[in-house]
Amino acid sequence: MTNTAPANRPANARFSSGPCAKIPGFSLDMLSDAPLGRSHRAAIGKNKLKEAIDLTREILGVPADYRIGIVPASDTGAVEMALWSLLGARKVTMCAWESFGSGWVTDVVKQLKLDAEVKEAGYGDIVDFATVDFNTDVVFTWNGTTSGVRVPSGDKIPADREGLTICDATSAAFAMDLPWDKLDVTTFSWQKVLGGEGGHGVLILSPRAVERLESYTPAWPLPKIFRLTSKGKLIEGIFVGETINTPSMLCVEDYLVAMKWAKTIGGLKGLVDRAAANAKVVWDFCDANPWIANLANDPATASTTSVCLKFNDARIKDGAAFAKAVAKRLEKEGVALDIGAYRDAPAGLRIWCGSTIEKADVEALMPWLAYAFEAEIAAQA
Ligand SMILES: Cc1ncc(COP(=O)(O)O)c(C=O)c1O
Repeated sequence: MTNTAPANRPANARFSSGPCAKIPGFSLDMLSDAPLGRSHRAAIGKNKLKEAIDLTREILGVPADYRIGIVPASDTGAVEMALWSLLGARKVTMCAWESFGSGWVTDVVKQLKLDAEVKEAGYGDIVDFATVDFNTDVVFTWNGTTSGVRVPSGDKIPADREGLTICDATSAAFAMDLPWDKLDVTTFSWQKVLGGEGGHGVLILSPRAVERLESYTPAWPLPKIFRLTSKGKLIEGIFVGETINTPSMLCVEDYLVAMKWAKTIGGLKGLVDRAAANAKVVWDFCDANPWIANLANDPATASTTSVCLKFNDARIKDGAAFAKAVAKRLEKEGVALDIGAYRDAPAGLRIWCGSTIEKADVEALMPWLAYAFEAEIAAQA
């Protein structure tokens, strides 16, 4: 059988899981309104930061009594601020089902040295929230970027929980519905679903999280970059755009441009629908091809953003080398960039299907997967 390269190519080959593809039609000219060379504390800068907070609230449907802050060090910074500032007041449960969640476990157990209950699921599975005690503080990742598995809904999180829920939603926010009443701390960075830039994190706090911040002081010291309170009171300025330290106004402008684009495609619903339609293209391809499968074992928990795939073919001799070779071939052909599985994840591919990706590009990529797979099977022999 001859294996010929498909005629059609994705118009945009960027399928990286972060930083993710910029919004359709992006050009640097779109950032010309950035107040460069001006103080972020001048009215012009503060207004931009406030607009970013307001648009985040509007698009994500964050309740009016939740605080939204722009914080340093991307999603990692936002998560660490929450862990360091809030934990230690009551028992902690750490839930993990992939690399980043496991990283938060390490921080809490080894750095903060808290006697947390650790609940882990292997790659492709998720911890069943029915088994979690939400009267403890619970830390989890909404969408496992490196495992392609997501929390299906917040239904199993009790409304009357005593603990706080701390959710790393970086590869979910703007592409999945997040149940704000079930989330006390939510974090994300701009570089994921909206194709923004790295470096800045968003920290969203429920009134109960604020209450904890104002009533509890951790036993350990907190660097300035993590401090959310002063003299026992929340630093409210952080949540109206008075950032702890200097942000990049170019990145802020880029985030604003992406959110304005989001509004033109129907806001959150438009974003969620785009990711779902993209992921379905890959899922359908897996259904039609027995040699490739979703890493997510239960379709109810399959991610619609970071779709992780594994190869299933008895002819494959070295799984890791094979997957790498497929990804490399696709990159060399210029049809898919950065789609190798995460370094700590099982061998395979990871195709970002988030909201900035065009469905036609995912459709165009699928025949290339088949082509590269066959080519690598042949190359092995
Ligand atoms: C689930 C998850 N958490 C945290 C991070 C780290 O994000 P950042 O580099 O924006 O800090 C990532 C990045 O891919 C991620 O996927």
